Amino acid sequence: MLINIIAGNSSEILAKRISRKLNANLIKSKVKVFPDGESKITLKGKFIGSKTVVVQSIYPPVDSNLIQAFALISKAKENSSEVIAVIPYLAYARQDREFLPGEIVTMKVLGNLFKGVGANKIIVMDIHSKLGLKQFKIKSENVTAIPNLVKYFKSIKLENPLVVSPDQGGKERARRFSEEFKLNFIALQKFRDRKTGKVKIKNEDVCEVEGRDLILVDDMISTGGSIVKATEFLKKQNCKRVFVICTHALLINDAEKKIKKAGVTKIISTNSIPGKTSVVDISDIIAKAIK
Ligand code: R5P
Repeated sequence: MLINIIAGNSSEILAKRISRKLNANLIKSKVKVFPDGESKITLKGKFIGSKTVVVQSIYPPVDSNLIQAFALISKAKENSSEVIAVIPYLAYARQDREFLPGEIVTMKVLGNLFKGVGANKIIVMDIHSKLGLKQFKIKSENVTAIPNLVKYFKSIKLENPLVVSPDQGGKERARRFSEEFKLNFIALQKFRDRKTGKVKIKNEDVCEVEGRDLILVDDMISTGGSIVKATEFLKKQNCKRVFVICTHALLINDAEKKIKKAGVTKIISTNSIPGKTSVVDISDIIAKAIK
């Protein structure tokens, strides 16, 4: 069956790669942002067949990319009976529950909006927690970039490597990565102050890291705070080199500089978000999920 792939402004190259893999009909989009911040989108191409996939990662400018995703999905629905939203990085995924009284669970709002504009299914990648997707009333699938990240890492010569999750919430991710790599893993105890956002590592000494190369595995890097704290802690435990892999590297402001200053040798991420560290391609994984 012929599939239309709409390349959203935030994921143009990724959409092109997915489209090539599926031999799909690529529809490009052109965005004009007005001085007041409004986006005007024009599609370049024609719809063929009944299935359309919209590819648009929601990274900064978050709300602008989000409204563009809604507009693209809505247009896709006018022209096809089945619409799949491919949102490899979905901002707001961390707002999946009410942490402090009165907080709005924005993932619930997003769930309603994606359905409202006409998406039949959403595909995300290495989402922060699966709880967020439970708020969605449409079909959802969370695919993982781990096999491709592991493949990339196998080309790096490592000394007695150990996989480390910076927090208990990322334990499953680190387990999966370590199993694919056939390595052991540990998970640190991270504590985040919900009011200030500041993080602390609360472990006692961790002797198994001494003299070893470490691979810190996380779903995303935003300000870099979590990775900096974890690296500082691990360096105090006399580890060797620290490599960081994540699926989504937002690297807000000087995050990369802070992470390097803390002693990280290399950051590796996927092209869910384009950038300097985004060297691992995920288009094959997404194409497989669309088929
Ligand atoms: C939180 O638990 C996530 O898995 C990431 O570790 C976190 O969101 C990254 O944010 P930042 O880089 O700002 O610490």
